[in-house]
Amino acid sequence: MPARDPFYIATPIFYVNDVPHIGHAYTEVSADALARWHRQGGDDTWLLTGTDEHGEKILRTARANGVTPKEWTDRLVESAWTPLLETVDIANDDFIRTTDERHETAVSRFIQKLYDDGHIYAGEYEGYYCVGCEEYKQKDELVEPTEGEFAGQLVCAIHSRPVEILKEKNYFFRMSAFQDRLLDLYSRPDFIQPESVRNEIVSFVRQGLSDLSISRSSFDWGIRVPWDESHVIYVWVDALLNYISAIGYGTDDENFARRWPAVQLVGKDIARFHAVIWPAMLMAADLPVPKRVFGHGWLLVGGEKMSKSKLTGIAPHQITDTFGSDAFRYYFLRAITFGQDGSFSWEDLSARYQAELANGFGNLASRVTAMITRYREGRIPDVSTVELAEADGAILATIERVNAAADQAIERLALGDALAAIWELVDELNGYITEQEPWALSKDEANAERLDAVLATAARGVGALAVLLSPFTPKASAKLWAALGGEGTVQESDIRDALNWRGSGQVTPLESPLFPRIEVEAASAPGAA
Ligand code: MSP
Repeated sequence: MPARDPFYIATPIFYVNDVPHIGHAYTEVSADALARWHRQGGDDTWLLTGTDEHGEKILRTARANGVTPKEWTDRLVESAWTPLLETVDIANDDFIRTTDERHETAVSRFIQKLYDDGHIYAGEYEGYYCVGCEEYKQKDELVEPTEGEFAGQLVCAIHSRPVEILKEKNYFFRMSAFQDRLLDLYSRPDFIQPESVRNEIVSFVRQGLSDLSISRSSFDWGIRVPWDESHVIYVWVDALLNYISAIGYGTDDENFARRWPAVQLVGKDIARFHAVIWPAMLMAADLPVPKRVFGHGWLLVGGEKMSKSKLTGIAPHQITDTFGSDAFRYYFLRAITFGQDGSFSWEDLSARYQAELANGFGNLASRVTAMITRYREGRIPDVSTVELAEADGAILATIERVNAAADQAIERLALGDALAAIWELVDELNGYITEQEPWALSKDEANAERLDAVLATAARGVGALAVLLSPFTPKASAKLWAALGGEGTVQESDIRDALNWRGSGQVTPLESPLFPRIEVEAASAPGAA
């Protein structure tokens, strides 16, 4: 096997003005499943996530709560944002906070370099600013409601709140100088995905790029501009640099060279920052641009982006408390086509939990481990000298086929397609057991060899499922792996060769179902509309 490229994937870093909702958890889970897949394939993998803690939005929230911004961010990170990782079972390799010293040092160094190299100049700016977006807006990005609380005012289309007029002396980054190089970059078809996001960005840049205001002087909650202490660095510039500050930009060249560039997963609302401003900043610093920027869709409530400010947020634990983290992960990755918007519903979650996880995968795992225990005292039969039937061979072929299909889907970041491919094996194995009727074969000693072949084939398939599903449903996979007597941990079993998983051959029945029956009626689930 040729060595594969290292795989560095980063989520956006999250604003800590409020607690997480399932939209944030969705970004985390997507990145984590991709990272887990690569890690289990033996790739040199790194998953970074973290928190975005500077800027006016956080400052105002802290003030409104009567604490300093640092007290506020410490409190939120500890009580809400790091616990989220456990709630949805994220195996991140690092967690960066923009208030970390390592980050602040790297940001100062980067900005100073751009300044020294002539990419930054002083100027004055007047414009509409949305504190929710932490962004200057053009007039055509604003709406003017005719009724309601903000009637007659200019309101941000995303946050539905009035923008403010700001006039400040600012430092500017000569972003306009990079317009042609950015357009060239976009001709690389996989740089921005999906197509819809790419088209939007290309037409935005074609309209002409302005220079970017990269400092603020009306408040001081941020990283100081190194050559002018009366300014702090614009929060987006500060935040984007987390992707390189965390891997040793300026301090650990070896690690930086090993990891960078990253695959960047972002919500489509912030794709522009990542596909325009960020590569332009990197080009100015003579650093490689990200490998790709993927803008995933939104979780919608009532047709609108779920958001805390609009009070439509559902906390991730509201789902995991009842269904568990595996089901959370599975549901969002399976039910929503990655790259498109999707609506969450308790009914849909319950239905998929029951049909696909409990009855599909869970029941299959229980049946196979129970039958091997019952008919063969827990030994997976050795069938190396037995001639397999066509149906057995078909299962083995399916394992290889879906394994390759899932791996290709992961390369395309098509998480739902990967799960759909793996589910072909779930369904085929369930059909195989129904057709082969091991319980009937067990009644007559003359069928012993045939029963051996069926049980061994089923065990092979179920073990392959434990391996292939481990990035998506890590807890259930680990439980099944233990019951199958798998060697080491399931994460150590090569995900690109699930057919040839290894174990002791000794099976123990599952003590409890992988996905237990849930008594709560979907309609009365917490937070149900
Ligand atoms: N702090 C910035 C990102 C800086 S990255 C250098 C930010 N933070 S955020 O907390 O508002 O959003 C973080 C991520 O959560 C974004 O990718 C955003 O798209 C995602 N989501 C927030 N609400 C969402 C939904 N309703 N649905 C899906 N993802 C959503 O932006």
